[in-house]
Amino acid sequence: MATYVQLNTGAKMPILGLGTWKSPPGQVTAAVMAAIDAGYRHFDGAYVYQNEKEVGDGIQQKIKEGVVKREDLFIVSKLWSTFHEKHLVKGACQKTLADLKLDYLDLYLIHWPSGFKAGEDLFPTDDQDMIIPSNTDLLQTWEAMEELVDAGLAKAIGISNFNHEQIERILNKPGLKYKPANNQIECHPYLTQEKLINYCQSKGIAVTAYSPLGSPDRPRVKLEHPLPLDDPRIKEIAARHNKTAAQVLLRFQIQRNVIVVPKSVTPQRIVENFKVFDFELSKEEMATLLSFNRNWRMGLLSQARTHKEYPFHAEY
Ligand SMILES: NC(=O)c1ccc[n+]([C@@H]2O[C@H](COP(=O)([O-])OP(=O)(O)OC[C@H]3O[C@@H](n4cnc5c(N)ncnc54)[C@H](OP(=O)(O)O)[C@@H]3O)[C@@H](O)[C@H]2O)c1
Ligand SMILES: *[C@@H]1O[C@H](CO)[C@@H](O)[C@H](O)[C@H]1NC(C)=O
Repeated sequence: MATYVQLNTGAKMPILGLGTWKSPPGQVTAAVMAAIDAGYRHFDGAYVYQNEKEVGDGIQQKIKEGVVKREDLFIVSKLWSTFHEKHLVKGACQKTLADLKLDYLDLYLIHWPSGFKAGEDLFPTDDQDMIIPSNTDLLQTWEAMEELVDAGLAKAIGISNFNHEQIERILNKPGLKYKPANNQIECHPYLTQEKLINYCQSKGIAVTAYSPLGSPDRPRVKLEHPLPLDDPRIKEIAARHNKTAAQVLLRFQIQRNVIVVPKSVTPQRIVENFKVFDFELSKEEMATLLSFNRNWRMGLLSQARTHKEYPFHAEY
């Protein structure tokens, strides 16, 4: 099984990367360093995670130690929603690069299709606690993303949390210069995303699965079902392979040619999550895992549900 997915730019994106959302600034430097030692070469970050300086510290230390070279790494970041205005995109990317202490990103994504009012506040809300949108056009934001490639700041550009109608608009844009290379979406056995993955892959857009373990550390109200990690049916498949539920959840994505970015700041789990290249789920097990779909989405961004570009009203 390949450990890379080839992007429509020709670049090879490691199929497994380390997620960094919710990774505390005081722990993420050590987590990044432990991950590089364990074999990870792909790191998934974002401006809004507010820890890019500390992620960058870990990367720099390992480069300084001579363990890896910059060109061995695949670094992903994301344009936050308050920077969708065309004239703000380059500065946002440069801020991320300065924090990471890098001079280019391997992949820069539009984090959400919904633009928010520009300003200091990362989640600007009105008195109803609803997001205040920006009056921006996705196609304009995309043009500014294309300029980052031409300026050498990003080797590839892509999108995140886009539905297929929004992707279609980009693909049909008159004068489109670069197609999105990647769409990063929530995906696990309770939200298998078969239609959106098929759509993206048929258009040459690689898919990354976020929250692949069900994001157990995400702030949430209450749960009616167990999390995927605690699902006895998934644990049973894992036991058959002498693997953990987490390893099965990651392997499930890899076997669909979906890139996957589990987050951990625990060294032993960082190592565990990388040990997914030495076993194979059977066809029947893959079908069983797909059958657990219940379109159960955790990343709802519900404060933006009235936004004109809210992505989750469409079927896929
Ligand atoms: N594009 C987007 O809008 C978006 C949205 C959400 C996430 N993401 C990206 O996707 C990444 C992953 O998603 P996520 O952070 O939501 O959740 P996740 O990776 O599904 O789950 C992370 C949680 O699982 C725990 N964990 C990790 N490995 C484990 C193991 N082997 N056994 C048991 N527990 C384990 C972690 O604990 P410890 O850290 O304490 O070990 C943490 O609490 C994010 O970090 C981010 O990079 C992107
Ligand atoms: C099961 O996995 C553990 C941890 O990777 C390993 O130490 C043990 O030898 C394995 N057992 C079998 C029967 O393969």
